[in-house]
Amino acid sequence: MASAEVSNPYLPLLRSSSSAIFLLGAGISTSIGIPDFRSKDGLYASLKLEEYGLNAPEDLFDYEHFCASPAGFFKWSLDSLTLQTTGSKFHRFLSTLKNLHRIYTQNIDGLESSSGVPDSKIVHCHGSLQNSTCQTCNHKYPTPSFTGKVPLCPVPTSPLVVGPRTSSRVKKKQKLTCEGILKPDITFFGEPLQSVVSKTIGKDRLKSDLITVVGTSLKVEPFSKIVNCFEGKKVLVNRDYVGFPGEGRWDCVFLCDSDEVVEEEGTTWREVVKGVFLGR
Ligand code: APR
Repeated sequence: MASAEVSNPYLPLLRSSSSAIFLLGAGISTSIGIPDFRSKDGLYASLKLEEYGLNAPEDLFDYEHFCASPAGFFKWSLDSLTLQTTGSKFHRFLSTLKNLHRIYTQNIDGLESSSGVPDSKIVHCHGSLQNSTCQTCNHKYPTPSFTGKVPLCPVPTSPLVVGPRTSSRVKKKQKLTCEGILKPDITFFGEPLQSVVSKTIGKDRLKSDLITVVGTSLKVEPFSKIVNCFEGKKVLVNRDYVGFPGEGRWDCVFLCDSDEVVEEEGTTWREVVKGVFLGR
């Protein structure tokens, strides 16, 4: 006997929202082959530390480690950061939502935007790969394509100081260009979030009636705490259960893949969802 049609309880909840906010993590990109960080098949479990001169996986995105030895990050970027532009079913679903108020994403893959969500509705809480900043003179550039080498700032330095008595040693030492490290504008551990994040949270505080947290372990502060900043029902959609951060509780928990939670009604829904806990 065909299994009874099972309706997807998340979609009616989302459709009844007049202003939905999403808080997103790496889990929403795993279905298109981009590993998340902490799952057993995630980046941190597979990273060959010695290949990139790392002592621990988190060093890859640690600001102090980056400044001391940037080479590992740029080698890893060449090996791993394929700038994919086609998002998952979930990314594309977000771009269809008329009641989408805002997306706060931890992801740097830019797939929310390339899948059609207007940039005005996206807050990149951990920055994005689009631009890079010189760590010496603060000049900003579009991020150069990754070559495996450490990209250096090409800004010409002030005119060379050369006089009749300038020694050849001094002349040689003077650099023609800044040569500061060009670091992509992604937020490393040890760096503050960009100010746009707190400013937008302030504007959005009372503007939502549904917050859906998708594809994140909520392990990294301050992002993990922002779900408490907003009004509205709090819903978790994640492959693994994640406790509610701080005071309060989830109104609903859907243990499933992000691409499944957007499935219309149908038996698929029952087969994939490990548990639906409808809260208050
Ligand atoms: N659908 C739903 N959930 C998924 C899926 C999927 N297809 N794939 C994985 N997940 C879940 C995992 O169960 C896990 O709980 O997504 C979560 C991903 O957690 P992390 O790997 O910790 O990724 P994230 O929470 O985004 O990491 C946050 O950590 O290293 C830093 O800066 C990095 O932004 C990153 C931050």
